[in-house]
Amino acid sequence: MSNEELVKAALQARTGSYAPYSGFRVGAALLTPGGRVFTGCNVENASYGLTMCAERVAVGKAVSEGEREFVAIAVAGNGREKCLPCGACRQVLAEFAPDMAVIAVNEYGDYSVTRLNELLPQSFCLPSGK
Ligand code: THU
Repeated sequence: MSNEELVKAALQARTGSYAPYSGFRVGAALLTPGGRVFTGCNVENASYGLTMCAERVAVGKAVSEGEREFVAIAVAGNGREKCLPCGACRQVLAEFAPDMAVIAVNEYGDYSVTRLNELLPQSFCLPSGK
């Protein structure tokens, strides 16, 4: 699966976004080592704090289907700015794949690639034997 294909999947997932409050529509596409792709979109709520980010929807779908290893995620948002995962989503992604590629995508399909450990260096993890 190429970066371009993952970008396309994130843009497609974005069409499912439920964002009546912010108007900011996000789609994510998460790639496993075996080539499976799990998508997600943001799902907002009238009780704003219950909003689910697109990335965490994708992670939840993947993990609930038995996948725990990821090689890349593409995240697409509104406008010209390429959309990066929020801090909470970075932490959730780091739980499973601290070195995964993160592809930030704008509404028009332009993208740039970075790595999660650049976006969230020295992330929190429990000491072994906690
Ligand atoms: N959002 C995401 O889906 N992913 C992020 O990484 C950042 C923010 C959503 C949450 C909310 O529905 C909207 O974007 C504006 O914050």
